[in-house]
Amino acid sequence: MSKIKLYGGGTLPIEMHRVSTVHPIRLIPVEERVAALDEAGNCSYNLKSEDVFIDMLTDSGFNAMSDAQAGAFHLADFAYAGSESYYRMADKVREILGKDYFLPVHQGRACEHMLAKAFVKQGDLIPTNFHFCTFQTQTRLQGGDLVEFLQDKGLVTGGDDGFKGDYDVEKLEAFLSSTARERVPLVRIEAGTNLIGGQPISLDNINAVSETAHRHGIRVLLDMSLVMDNLHFIKTRDKKRAGLSVRAIMREMADAADIIYFSGRKLGFARGGGICMNDEADFKRVRALVSCYEGFPTFGGMSSAELEVMRQGFDDTMDENVISQGPDFIEYMVEEFKKRGVPVVTPAGGLGCHLDADRFCAHLGRREFRGAALAAAIYIVSGVRGMERGLSSEKHEDSIAPFELVRLAVPRRVYTLSHIKYVIDRVTWLYEHREMIGAMRWEEEIEGDHLFTDFLRPVGDWREKLAAEYKKTGLED
Ligand SMILES: Cc1ncc(COP(=O)(O)O)c(C=O)c1O
Repeated sequence: MSKIKLYGGGTLPIEMHRVSTVHPIRLIPVEERVAALDEAGNCSYNLKSEDVFIDMLTDSGFNAMSDAQAGAFHLADFAYAGSESYYRMADKVREILGKDYFLPVHQGRACEHMLAKAFVKQGDLIPTNFHFCTFQTQTRLQGGDLVEFLQDKGLVTGGDDGFKGDYDVEKLEAFLSSTARERVPLVRIEAGTNLIGGQPISLDNINAVSETAHRHGIRVLLDMSLVMDNLHFIKTRDKKRAGLSVRAIMREMADAADIIYFSGRKLGFARGGGICMNDEADFKRVRALVSCYEGFPTFGGMSSAELEVMRQGFDDTMDENVISQGPDFIEYMVEEFKKRGVPVVTPAGGLGCHLDADRFCAHLGRREFRGAALAAAIYIVSGVRGMERGLSSEKHEDSIAPFELVRLAVPRRVYTLSHIKYVIDRVTWLYEHREMIGAMRWEEEIEGDHLFTDFLRPVGDWREKLAAEYKKTGLED
């Protein structure tokens, strides 16, 4: 998306598309929103979509399709084996990523399932810039674990470093030079880095990690689920690459990796996932697992129609106007929130605008579910569904998440600037009444990891009081 300059001064992110298919949304009354939260156990994942006004839970499988993608849907060859749709997608992977072998699976975590089963054994350690919950789970299920090498700059929510997803390459080098080397089957890179606010990793850093891993004889595994945003940030923040096309940046990044995987619910604007590589022996190893757990390898876990949509989505991704749509709206939100003093992760990252719940709800304790409470409060005062990223969604109950965030995801081409302005307005009201946000607690104590869908209960009646205060504003009369 281009940012246009306004006659009156300043810039505006402008939609580089027009809309031809629409889906109605509705805002249910505030009392009903409290009741819906009750039914959902105060967990935004459990809300019914029809009760959500603006859905900023995730972009996963929720980005709008282009007209070319909608058309591609009908090209599907549903043959069980050897489908033309598969070969067209495999050709696209070869063209854009330079990888000869492609395996479709049903979503990103299925890639991780296959890869962990193929490469991770008991006691193994996988270096990564930062963990993602699904990859961590799959690694642990095989008896391995992750070791994080994120630079310190990535663990602060403020600041203006353009590449907070960068690896500490010196620490990685020291680790791989130690006896731990024997336990490392893969070095993983996540581009961009989901759980630290969708922050990108630089291409120089990716190349340095790749060189280090290869010098130690270790395969590089690249998670490209969030690569669209990362490409945009390399293009706009890395002076060395400013003159390169999106395609050239994508290829340089892909060349650094031996195995690439992605959630096709994000990259490719479809509903699926894929694993790509050049090594034939590795391919055969993973293909056997895909056959066993996902489906015949030429469709894996996907419908052929979605394979066609994904193929077209790869082409669409090479267009700067397409990949900038999310980040430009997110930057707009971040800048507007900054002006209003609302604490957000800076600089603007990909995927969504990330509110810093630790600062937003500083009056709550670190074990009082600041993020979950904030996500519930946002829903009450706006009907907007965000996603808690912290204690309740990704860690053991006995550990503290590095930070508590609420992600307001910006699915591509789904919402307009008026939706975004509405969200900014209501979150600002909430920030000015933040002392009214109370604590949460688990509804029941559960052994081990909590899941996204576990129920929380408010401590006291703060939600009802907040709803009453909001109603007094008359904003919904
Ligand atoms: C970086 C990253 N890797 C993997 C996944 C898992 O993908 P999926 O949700 O399709 O299973 C996600 C999903 O959000 C992701 O952001």
